[in-house]
Amino acid sequence: MILDYENVNELNRYKIMSGSIVPRPIAWIVTEDNGVLNAAPFSYFIPISTSPALVIVAIGKKDDGSPKDSLANILKTKKATICFPNKDNIDQVQKCAMQLSKDESEIEKFEIDVRKELEDYPPMITSTQTALFCEYYDTYKVEGDTTPVILKINYQYIEDGRINERNHTNIESIGRVGVTFKAMVDL
Ligand SMILES: Cc1cc2nc3c(=O)[nH]c(=O)nc-3n(C[C@H](O)[C@H](O)[C@H](O)COP(=O)(O)O)c2cc1C
Repeated sequence: MILDYENVNELNRYKIMSGSIVPRPIAWIVTEDNGVLNAAPFSYFIPISTSPALVIVAIGKKDDGSPKDSLANILKTKKATICFPNKDNIDQVQKCAMQLSKDESEIEKFEIDVRKELEDYPPMITSTQTALFCEYYDTYKVEGDTTPVILKINYQYIEDGRINERNHTNIESIGRVGVTFKAMVDL
C-alpha cells in the first residue's frame, strides 16, 4: 500500500507519522518567563548535529491559534532545559500536556520537583536521569502551524552512575509510539 500524502489530511498524517516514526524520544522541556516555570512534553524531537550539538523540536499552536507557552518562552528568553521522562513519571508528563494559561505553572500546579543546577538556565526536573541545558539557535521556517525550533546544547546533567569512563551512558528514558509510551529494552 502506498499512501499519497497529498491525499491524507492533517489529522491522519499525524496519526500515521507518529505511529510509524517510532519510538520517538520525548523532550520534557522546562522554560521560564517572569518567574513562571513551564514544563511540557514534545515528541517531534530529535538531534540533528553533534558539532555544534543541536536538537530540533517542532512546536505547534494552542487550540486558540496562539503560540504554545514553551515556544513563546524560548523565543523570549533564548533558554530551555530539556529533561527526559522515565517510567516513574509518566503521570506528570501527561499532566504537563494540558493547556494551561501562560501565567500558570505546570511545575507548581502538578507539584513537580525541580532543581536549579545552572544559574542561567531553567531548573531541571529532579526525576530526570539526564538534562540538556540549551540556548536558542535558530528556527526552521515551514508552512502551516508548526514551528521547528533548533536548540544548542551547552551543558548536560547526567545522574551519578549513568555514564562510565568510556562515556557510555545508561539512560532509561521512555519513548512515544503513536499515543502510547514504550520503555526501552535491550535486544
Ligand atoms: C508525549 C507527548 C508528546 C507531545 N509532543 C508534542 C510535539 O512534538 N509538539 C507539540 O506541539 N505538542 C506536543 N505535545 C502536546 C504538548 O505537550 C501540549 O500542547 C502542551 O500543552 C504544550 O504546553 P505549553 O503551552 O506549556 O508549551 C505532546 C504531548 C505529549 C503527551
